[in-house]
This record gives sequence, structure tokens and C-alpha cells, in this order.
Amino acid sequence: MNDKLSPVAATSVGVARIRARESTRADRLFEDPFAAAFAAAGGDPAVSSSTHSERLRIALYVQVVVRTRFYDEELLAATAAGCRQVVLLGAGLDARAFRLSWPDGVRMFELDQPEVVEFKDRVLAEVAAAPRCARTVVPVDLCADWSTPLRRAGFDPAVPTAWLAEGLLVYLDAADAAQLLSTVTAASTAGSRLVTEAGHAKTDLAALGADSAGGVTSLWRGGLGADLAPYLRDEGWDVEEVRLADLAAAYGRPAPAATAGFLTAVRR
Ligand SMILES: C[S@@+](CC[C@H](N)C(=O)[O-])C[C@H]1O[C@@H](n2cnc3c(N)ncnc32)[C@H](O)[C@@H]1O
Repeated sequence: MNDKLSPVAATSVGVARIRARESTRADRLFEDPFAAAFAAAGGDPAVSSSTHSERLRIALYVQVVVRTRFYDEELLAATAAGCRQVVLLGAGLDARAFRLSWPDGVRMFELDQPEVVEFKDRVLAEVAAAPRCARTVVPVDLCADWSTPLRRAGFDPAVPTAWLAEGLLVYLDAADAAQLLSTVTAASTAGSRLVTEAGHAKTDLAALGADSAGGVTSLWRGGLGADLAPYLRDEGWDVEEVRLADLAAAYGRPAPAATAGFLTAVRR
């Protein structure tokens, strides 16, 4: 089944594989009971992790598990603080709608390429998964007009929203990442929040021995890189940076050499 997914779409299965592995650990940072089904349905990796150095493999693993736990906490905090819409940009096989306990009235919108949305919902139907909030999938190209389909799906820009761009921006070039974030800004009333990677992942992780042909990093276009935080500040967001190494230490995991971290932003 996975050979039908394009390489970028198949990166969602790669993340699910990591979440499935983490979920079996006694000291797991989260439990994702759906990740194993996604990994099994996804078949063999489309991009070969065997081309990655051991240091890069470990760094990718730690980055995914730490960010999963951190974004779980951030999104639950945002909804506890009053955000009643959650939008997952490049949702991939994110199962937060199914595995987290959401306050009443939360509406979640999951945006990804049609092929990913179809694959995900087929697997979820096979395991009879039931969402724990109102969930709407919106198949889109995030480099085209996605705000019109989002609004048609019921999204209300007047409602404070928690936005998540997890493992997404690095797959876009700078112009597409900027356009996407400007669209997010235009759809965000005061008090809305955004969480995402800090933007240095390409340089940080690639330095760990990547860039062999066929590796996942060959799909990375870099997003806004180091310009991400200044860009968001200029757009009207209060931005804080959180270092991955600090979070990893707080969660009791050895800190990787990579210094990539995360941004939390609140719309002024
Ligand atoms: C590494 S996966 C991350 C998925 C999910 N956020 C997670 O962390 O589990 C990247 C996702 O971004 C999606 N994506 C990349 N470019 C996209 C685009 N132009 N339009 C829609 N989705 C896109 C891919 O289809 C894929 O599901």
C-alpha cells in the first residue's frame, strides 16, 4: 500500500513507525495505539533509513518523540485556555483526535494531501477508531489555496484556534512556507496559538550525516529556516523558542547533539 504513496506523503508513515516503537517502551513519552496499524498498512519504507547515519537515526527518533509529547501538552493547554478549534497542518497520521482527551466543544481540522487523508481514514475505519472531539478531514495542497476548503469545512476565523505544523515546514520552500504562515495569520483571531519546529532542523539534522541519495533529508526544502521566528514576529505573533535539548532533559531522555527546537506563538 505504501508504494502508492508519494515520497513526501510516505514520510507520515515514517513518523508513525517511530511512534509505534515509542509506544512499546516502558518509559514511553506518550501512547499512540494507532501508530502500529498505520505502520503495518504502510508497508516497507519509501525512503530508505538505511542511508541515514546512526547519529541521524537517533536524532530523528528523539526529535519525533519529544515533539509529539511537547505538542500534546501545548495543544491541550491551548484548548484548556479557550481555543475551541485545532488545525493540524500536514496532519499525516497524527492520531491526537483519537488518543487525547479534549474539552467539550473542540473541533479539529486535519489538513493533508488527498492520498494521505484517504490512507489514514481507511486504516482508522479498519480498527474502528472513534474520535474524542469533532473531527473534520480537509484534503488539500498546502501550497495552493487551502483556506477556502477549510472555511467550507466549517472553520470559523473568529474563534481562537490552536494551529500545529508538525514535521511540515521543512518540506516546503521558503516562499511556500511564508505564504502558508501568512494564511494562518489571516485566519487567526487574537489569542490563537501556533506551535511548530524552530526551523533549524534541516541544517541541524543534516549535519549529523544525512544527504545520501534516498534518505528522508533529500526531501527537505528547508522552510523559512532561521528566518521563521522573525517572520512570525513581524506577522503579529509573540514567539518563544524552546530548545529540544531542554525538553529532552525534562522528559528524561538523553539530549541529542542536534540543537533543533520548537516555537510557541500567540497571536496579538
Ligand atoms: C513528516 S509528515 C508529518 C505528519 C504529521 N504532522 C506528524 O508529525 O505525524 C509530513 C506531512 O506533511 C504533508 N505535506 C507535505 N507537503 C504538503 C503539501 N504541500 N500539502 C499538504 N500536505 C503536505 C505530507 O503529506 C505528510 O503527511
